[in-house]
Amino acid sequence: MAERNELMDKIVSLAKRRGFIYPGSEIYGGLANTYDYGPLGTELLRNIKDLWWKYFVQTRSDMVGLDSGIVSHAKVWQASGHVAGFADAMIDCKNCKARMRADHLLENYIETTDEQERAELVNQNLENKMFIEALSSGKVEGLSIEDLETIRGILSNQSKNPLRCPNCGKNDWTQIRKFNQLFPVQLGIVEGEGGMAYLRGETAQGIFINFKNVVDSTRVRLPFGIGQIGKAFRNEITPGNSVFRTIEFEAGEIEYFFDPEASNWEELFEKWKSSMWEFATKELGIAANKLRWRSHTDKERSFYSSRTEDLEYEFPFGFKELWGLAYRTDYDLTQHMNVSKKDLTILDPYSNKKILPHVIEPAVGINRLLLMIVVDAYTEQGTSAGGDEGKRIVLNLHPKLAPYKVAVFPLLANKEELVDKAKGIYDELKKNFMVTFDARGNIGKRYLYQDEIGTPWCVTVDFESLDDEMVTVRDRITTTQERVAIKDLASYFSAKLQ
Ligand code: GAP
Repeated sequence: MAERNELMDKIVSLAKRRGFIYPGSEIYGGLANTYDYGPLGTELLRNIKDLWWKYFVQTRSDMVGLDSGIVSHAKVWQASGHVAGFADAMIDCKNCKARMRADHLLENYIETTDEQERAELVNQNLENKMFIEALSSGKVEGLSIEDLETIRGILSNQSKNPLRCPNCGKNDWTQIRKFNQLFPVQLGIVEGEGGMAYLRGETAQGIFINFKNVVDSTRVRLPFGIGQIGKAFRNEITPGNSVFRTIEFEAGEIEYFFDPEASNWEELFEKWKSSMWEFATKELGIAANKLRWRSHTDKERSFYSSRTEDLEYEFPFGFKELWGLAYRTDYDLTQHMNVSKKDLTILDPYSNKKILPHVIEPAVGINRLLLMIVVDAYTEQGTSAGGDEGKRIVLNLHPKLAPYKVAVFPLLANKEELVDKAKGIYDELKKNFMVTFDARGNIGKRYLYQDEIGTPWCVTVDFESLDDEMVTVRDRITTTQERVAIKDLASYFSAKLQ
């Protein structure tokens, strides 16, 4: 585990050093669970969103897009069940006052406790089925507050190795209690119920409340989906692991509406599983052996879902949820019909039957995709000069994702004719690609810098280029170099980016 966290520390350090991810509000001492994206992180996020949008919305005939508001009526969240049910279990350390999610605390304890210790605890609690299941599965998410408190009590009081605060090491806890994750906002200048709204806790509700608008204003027919990328806000209290879990994140969500009498939900569910898998492995280039599916247990599943499977990725801190796929049935549309008193059914043009569609929902955090992509791409090569510890760090980003596709260098920064020639190439290439220009330091250092930010190709203008109109193109992965005619550069890179 120590080695894994060391790796995470190196990735976090690279992400900051090279302008991908900065801690939020840093000059004021930071703000927990918030981050800002630097110039390269911004490009990477944009590339991920563009790929997602193209793959799931623009190239499908059964999908349309939406961009709903971030601030929404309090009733949206009352109807959806979030006001009552969107809560985590939290616990405080009485000694150092650190606040954390109780489920994460207990799961981490179970994961890091040796087998013999766990077997002893099981033997002392043979009559407690819930406890034994939690200890053997390592999962406590979705258990009631009472069950969590029972597990906490056993781990605190019966274990030779009591449950300690990860911050100060003391075993002195408050009661576990519920904590709603929605952020209320007060609109206008008059305080009170009337001005109460919420920052959206998921983008999905924007899709449900606009479902009828989309049907009435476009030519869509069931089955069809509405896709949306946008910010969601959750009052998360678990710190750490960079942008894995933040209070503000971008979600890429799809609600796929279908008539349950005309379509088989299990077949649709399997199709969506295939699309998600294909996007992760083919479009984002993630190795299949780092991904796995995990079904939610009945207890763990969200209040709105009849079946949920998570696509998990093996982060340096273990296999964790990347992407959720849930069969939400007609739960949300029914809730909104009941609370708004608006008819959200649609008329089947063939049978004249009124249908309240069911939905399947693939939902992913774009920022979590970004973290996976950076983690997956991070490599340390050789022991020669460069990088933090004398190693060459290479971010093997898929060229489609790389913030810069090409870096253009003059071999020597103080030779005007080389700089001018390189600038000309840069100006020409940047009409079609994200290109960067660098004339600082020696050429070796410039290569190392581009390797660290994942630039697939570097173009160097040398003295020969002035005579033969050719440049050296260096490939990040193989580090091989080839001479390419300046006039052919645009088509050369276009072909590689196909
Ligand atoms: N509409 C369904 C929904 O919101 P979810 O499992 O709570 O489901 C979907 O969230 C995805 O959003 C997750 O699989 C994860 O990738 C991402 N996500 C959830 N909470 C997050 C957070 N606090 N920070 C970053 N990403 C988050």
